[in-house]
Amino acid sequence: MLTLEALAELNEAIYQRYGLDLRHYEPQSLRRRVERIIRKKGLDSAYGLWQKMLYQPDFCQYYLNEITIGFTALFRNPGLWRFIGQQILPEMDRHVPFSVWHTGCSTGEEVYSMLITLYEHLWTGQHQIWATDVNSEALRQAQEGVYGQDLYRKYAQNYEAFSITDRDLQFYLRPHARGFAFASFLKQNLHFALHNLAQDQQSRVFDMIMCRNILIYFDEGLKIRILDKLAQQIRPGGFLVLGFYDTWPAQCLVDFELVEAGLKVFQKK
Ligand SMILES: C[S@@+](CC[C@H](N)C(=O)[O-])C[C@H]1O[C@@H](n2cnc3c(N)ncnc32)[C@H](O)[C@@H]1O
Repeated sequence: MLTLEALAELNEAIYQRYGLDLRHYEPQSLRRRVERIIRKKGLDSAYGLWQKMLYQPDFCQYYLNEITIGFTALFRNPGLWRFIGQQILPEMDRHVPFSVWHTGCSTGEEVYSMLITLYEHLWTGQHQIWATDVNSEALRQAQEGVYGQDLYRKYAQNYEAFSITDRDLQFYLRPHARGFAFASFLKQNLHFALHNLAQDQQSRVFDMIMCRNILIYFDEGLKIRILDKLAQQIRPGGFLVLGFYDTWPAQCLVDFELVEAGLKVFQKK
């Protein structure tokens, strides 16, 4: 059992040595994740973990990937995608390229959901999609866009619950030796990059920022810093989308109106 004091010391040591700042991750869930790595690697303490970090150069990125691993799905929460497709996109000026930033895109399903939503509701070919994550392995999978056949049934059901066309999800997929892949016509104007929301800068301004199910990793102070930064990167009239379980400190998002409370969709005034 890892104590919170030992976890804080480990976080500090990692920050001092590698510049990776996990000091503002929510401690209880971070502790569960670190304990899981300790068990998985057959170690007996945080000290063993630290030794590995010192002597295996790529262990630090492995550690970060294991800590940030998260669940995602295609058209996760189909009602949100219906709202974006039917209420938000039709209001957009078709002469201005629509830009979106997926701030923690995980293995990419959220990004492909957005591309299909755009395809069905606002396909100008001029959109710009940025997809970032701190987890290098998840980002690699997102970029590849290949998924196991075991996911197909659930994803096809979610797509059906979203789409108002009589299309089948197959329309957007191509067979792949490891399951299915998203068709290349969907992938235009799509940019992937490794990005740490807690530490890295991003200066563009977007029509929409998706920050779904990421704030749950952070303590209140870090949530405030991140939401304040994101708020500045959305143009007036643009949108911020949080995740179903995300909460936000009361002093944040004062320049935003909660346009769909159940879906956590905010519009900048
Ligand atoms: C639960 S997944 C959510 C994926 C997707 N947004 C969704 O809602 O389906 C959370 C993602 O946040 C990423 N994440 C955690 N800490 C991060 C950070 N500091 N900067 C960027 N991404 C981070 C994780 O790597 C993970 O891929």
